[in-house]
Amino acid sequence: LEGLHKMAKTQLKPHAIIFPVPYQGHINPCVNLAIKLASKGFTITFVHFEFVHHMLSKSQSTNTHNEINFFSEARKSGLDIRYTTINDGFPLEFNRLNNYDEFWTSLLQDFPARVDEFIGKILQSEQSMVTFLIADTFFSWLPTLAKKYNIVNVSFFTEPALVFSLGYHLDILRENGHYPLKENVVEEIKYIPGVKSISTKELMHYLKEGELETLQHIASTRAFQEVKKADFVLHNTVQELESETLDELNKKQPNYAIGPLSNFLTKINVTKSMWSESDCTKWLESKPLDSVLYVSFGSLVKTNKHLIQEIAYGLLLSQVNFIWVIRENIVKLDGIDILPDGFKDEIGDKGLIIPWCNQISVLSNPAVGGFLTHCGWNSTIESIWCSTPMICYPMEYDQPAVRKLVVDDWKIGINLYDGDLIHRDEVAEKIRILMSGVGSLGLKQEIQKLKNVLHKAIEKDGSSDRNFDKFVMDLKAKIY
Ligand code: UDX
Repeated sequence: LEGLHKMAKTQLKPHAIIFPVPYQGHINPCVNLAIKLASKGFTITFVHFEFVHHMLSKSQSTNTHNEINFFSEARKSGLDIRYTTINDGFPLEFNRLNNYDEFWTSLLQDFPARVDEFIGKILQSEQSMVTFLIADTFFSWLPTLAKKYNIVNVSFFTEPALVFSLGYHLDILRENGHYPLKENVVEEIKYIPGVKSISTKELMHYLKEGELETLQHIASTRAFQEVKKADFVLHNTVQELESETLDELNKKQPNYAIGPLSNFLTKINVTKSMWSESDCTKWLESKPLDSVLYVSFGSLVKTNKHLIQEIAYGLLLSQVNFIWVIRENIVKLDGIDILPDGFKDEIGDKGLIIPWCNQISVLSNPAVGGFLTHCGWNSTIESIWCSTPMICYPMEYDQPAVRKLVVDDWKIGINLYDGDLIHRDEVAEKIRILMSGVGSLGLKQEIQKLKNVLHKAIEKDGSSDRNFDKFVMDLKAKIY
């Protein structure tokens, strides 16, 4: 009977429920992972938060948002991706970005019970058996719920393996007196397995002594603890980029580098953008090759008026063409006028200021020659994919560590400034260095090499392709 049961089981398609963290930088790789798995014959149930569903619908300017299935085109092309939403307990209009602590308190305390009930219902109703759960590593409830329902749990880390390794080895950091991290201590860390050297300046900000009570610290450290119970860990990175780090992690747990899981991966149209995208194509067409600097700080970080103003003056002084994404919530105090008086008149046709865009389409436009970035991991991967060298201005989370990779290790970008307070003259100088052919020649050569690495990784028999197949094989061996 057991044999028959096993045979019946192996004939079922593996079915995963996927839960992305509801931020743009996490949603993009999760959607692309869902498509990749579905194209290997998996059944996927993809779960967005209701508020995300609402934002995606709004970004498409549709009113009938309740009926929209963002995966309908994927389904039409034969992929078995089912789509559903989950309620987080807050009203739609609640500003989750501005109320980070309240939101994450609830995500840690009340949300797991909602997910539990949600999974229970799906399991009762599903014809095809749900065989595994995939959740973003920052959803630390994953192993407990997977255990309760006796299904395989797969943790998906959307940031670089370097950052995973730092979080994973908190105990070693603690033993060496670097966690909690004392303010103003600048030391080189050389004892993390697979990480040759990293400065304390590059550790995630939430590991600092003063951050211990914050939700970011609590949520992240809990996640790095719980991920040790994952059956498999998937990484949105590429083996060749972070091989030593990944090799060491692999000694502890099955880790698979299957990236880049970015928006350029598939031609299937799935709405992912949480804000409406301004179309920059026409404007870009009027600009010469490599002449435009693209400026964006991603979807999450908040900055201040001083920074915005110095960048604005720096752009003017540099005299380069630019596209600058200024999100409506880019500074802590929404609604204040953050650009210098008369700035928009002064830039004329040299600059385009927009609230949001299709970043891949901008970066891949031949007119774009540089990227002033906050070093979000997705932005970094996208920049490499399009071989666009970077000026780095990291702020929080994984960004200081990503800056180290980009500037110190890979030599595909430069730092924006070295001092305490950013100044327009330095901004202008760095922009000129990056955008002048001579200054960026070395960077361009190096980024071209990395671009080839990324492109090769996802081709047949490339490292990510092989890792993905290995993951599927190991997963099936565990399930059946
Ligand atoms: C967050 C963290 O800040 C980042 O450090 C972490 O690696 C992932 O989660 P975010 O700050 O939004 O992400 O940065 P990033 O990782 O670069 O992701 C932003 C995504 O939004 C990119 O995929 C980018 O293509 C997209 N984007 C950005 C747009 O589509 N349009 C824009 O105008 C700006």
